[in-house]
Amino acid sequence: MKNLILSLDIGTNNIRGVLVNESKPDEIINSLTKESLGVSKSVIKYPEETMNALDRFVSEIEASVNSTVNRIICTIGGDNLKCIINRGTAFVSDSSKNEVTKEDVEKAINSARQNVSLTQNEKILHTVAQKFYVDKLKGVQSPVGMIGNRLEAECLFVYTFCPDHKNLEQVLKKTQNQVCQINASTLAGAQACLTKQEKESGVIAIDLGAGTTGFSVYEDGCLVYTKVLPISQNHVRNDIGICFKVSQQVAEMLKRNQSCAFSKNIDKKETISLKEYNGEDRRISKKELAEVTASRFEDIFDTISKELEAIGKTGKLPGGAVLYGGGAQTKGIVELAKYKLNLPVRLAQAQYSNFTTQDLGYIPVLGSLKMYLNNQDFSSEGTLGSGGFFKKLSRRFNEIMPL
Ligand SMILES: Nc1ncnc2c1ncn2[C@@H]1O[C@H](COP(=O)(O)OP(=O)(O)OP(=O)(O)O)[C@@H](O)[C@H]1O
Ligand SMILES: [Mg+2]
Repeated sequence: MKNLILSLDIGTNNIRGVLVNESKPDEIINSLTKESLGVSKSVIKYPEETMNALDRFVSEIEASVNSTVNRIICTIGGDNLKCIINRGTAFVSDSSKNEVTKEDVEKAINSARQNVSLTQNEKILHTVAQKFYVDKLKGVQSPVGMIGNRLEAECLFVYTFCPDHKNLEQVLKKTQNQVCQINASTLAGAQACLTKQEKESGVIAIDLGAGTTGFSVYEDGCLVYTKVLPISQNHVRNDIGICFKVSQQVAEMLKRNQSCAFSKNIDKKETISLKEYNGEDRRISKKELAEVTASRFEDIFDTISKELEAIGKTGKLPGGAVLYGGGAQTKGIVELAKYKLNLPVRLAQAQYSNFTTQDLGYIPVLGSLKMYLNNQDFSSEGTLGSGGFFKKLSRRFNEIMPL
């Protein structure tokens, strides 16, 4: 087999990957999940350990298809992943007709990018042209061909901390494959689980990961905000461990098998044997376990609600919330999220043409693959971002135009 592309996500707990052949990118040949090492809160802290874990991962997936991986694309997460909005201006170059050209659009986007106030330690990953202004006309989506003198581009830049990016790049390069693209994990997740309609009406996609909780907000078909919070599933596990005085391993098993994020309907008399989960010979209350779990999840959703309030989106996302990541598999999570976020809520579906899995942690690798393929000539999706001029821009800026 030739030209294998591996889409990777190196998370706090898990490394996940899916493999496709460049000549048939719609067909996933294999997928794999293995324990991640050296990663804390979604960023690489001990590169040697991560490299060893990744080496084993790549060897195993290569052995499964008896071929070597040629290109790697990967997601990047962590709470250094942030976004900022900036505007840039260009004067319409064609002074005879005053018609906005593709080059003017590129200049306006470039000017927004050049003036954005980031430190030297921050690196732009994605540029999203949200809307344009042609003279006094606001909110233009496609300015090419319009008549005017002055073009302004309002762009959202998704950026990260250079050392996080460098560490990841180095770890990936040591596997001796070509590293083609590093995508923000929150954008990749949204790309895989949101529908075009949800993005149009306004929606938030939430990744409930082991070390972080990431989210991205879309409105009018366009990304308007993304952030990664340092509160996560590991806090839920730690709370269970402390409250019931059990080891982290026992707490993790209880969390996955017995916990529930919505404690209302649980009978007070129901108990769980710790012995069944390699713990001591005693029983704990199922309702109490649910209450401890719910309390941390409430914290997570309250923090997200405050973030939505801060960007003026409270009550303004009719598309609701879509949950993914390992934590989205917690029982009662949809009910709790509905109650706390006051929005319609659904679980994401981890699906990519022939490939389906119950593991909602696969969403970022599937979306990252989609993002990469959308930028390539062999992409089959006819989105605005994948066609001619925008595709060229896209390659230069790794840009996602509004769908
Ligand atoms: N069935 C389940 N019920 C409840 N929680 C679950 C279940 N399965 C997995 N989890 C939780 O999902 C988390 C792992 O999720 P995931 O694999 O998405 O994290 P990660 O990608 O490694 O971390 P991050 O994205 O934060 O770097 C763990 O905390 C685990 O407890
Ligand atoms: Mg993750």
